[in-house]
Amino acid sequence: MTRLPLLLFTAMAIGAVLLLFALPLHPFASWAAWTTAGVAAGLALHELAGRPIPFLRWSFLRMLMGIQAGDWQVGDGREEEAARYVLAKATPGDVEAAIRALDDFSYRRKFLINVGARKGAILEQAIARVKPRYVLELGAYVGYSALRIARALPAGGRLISIEKSAANAEIARRIATHAGVNDRVSFVVGALGDGGQTATSLRDEHGIQPGSLDLVFIDHAKDAYVPDLQRILAAGWLHAGSVVIADNVGFPGAPEYRAYMQAAEGKRFQTHVHETTVEYQSMIRDLVLESTMLA
Ligand SMILES: C[S@@+](CC[C@H](N)C(=O)[O-])C[C@H]1O[C@@H](n2cnc3c(N)ncnc32)[C@H](O)[C@@H]1O
Repeated sequence: MTRLPLLLFTAMAIGAVLLLFALPLHPFASWAAWTTAGVAAGLALHELAGRPIPFLRWSFLRMLMGIQAGDWQVGDGREEEAARYVLAKATPGDVEAAIRALDDFSYRRKFLINVGARKGAILEQAIARVKPRYVLELGAYVGYSALRIARALPAGGRLISIEKSAANAEIARRIATHAGVNDRVSFVVGALGDGGQTATSLRDEHGIQPGSLDLVFIDHAKDAYVPDLQRILAAGWLHAGSVVIADNVGFPGAPEYRAYMQAAEGKRFQTHVHETTVEYQSMIRDLVLESTMLA
């Protein structure tokens, strides 16, 4: 099944070349056939290389075509497959091995929208510095960043991760349980914009009070970054010195969030912009914003 794209691209390249030699083509048709042959050969070679550049990587293109706004799954079962991969490859209780397995899956099998190792390190460095008692994450997906946060937490630290998709939350929970971090991590199915239900659960079931949150990691729907941060501020959950980290501000992009932090600079927040790249490749640039609350 994983060889299907390779076979398809090889067949396309060979088909286009055969067409070029077998038929007297109009110049435009000839140009189209050469282009098809070149692109298909490039795609086939990159599939063969095993760690292809993103634009030519089938699983990346499939992800761009398939990610569903409703349930945030690509639609080819890769999230479930990733969970089975971690359970098969990582020793139970070994969080490092679980993170490695997810990175390996994303590089070699199918692209996942995890924060990845490079941007994950920014998150972990902030956690090591802040030593948070409570971290709130918006957007768990399969729980990759939750594993990175969990391993960096100080003793007694807790992560509460809000995930809109029940299916993703269930996968994240299974992986976190296997990695042995479920004593520090809770996945809550919901969204801060659901009219108060999730906020009530954070307060009543997870003990979040005004001033509780030392660090927030925002990594969910890009158009919800600003409204959800405003909900957190309105609830008074942050305190002076709390750190808010936002992923994907450069790509796919959260321009409203960037503008919000620019307007708040030196007043409510002080922001450091990390220039980095999108996960699991080094070609597409991205920005991670790390903002410290001033007052
Ligand atoms: C980019 S992924 C998160 C990746 C994860 N933080 C990691 O690095 O491993 C985005 C996730 O946010 C979830 N999501 C989308 N809108 C949301 C919302 N309003 N509240 C909570 N989660 C949401 C999606 O279901 C998806 O699983």
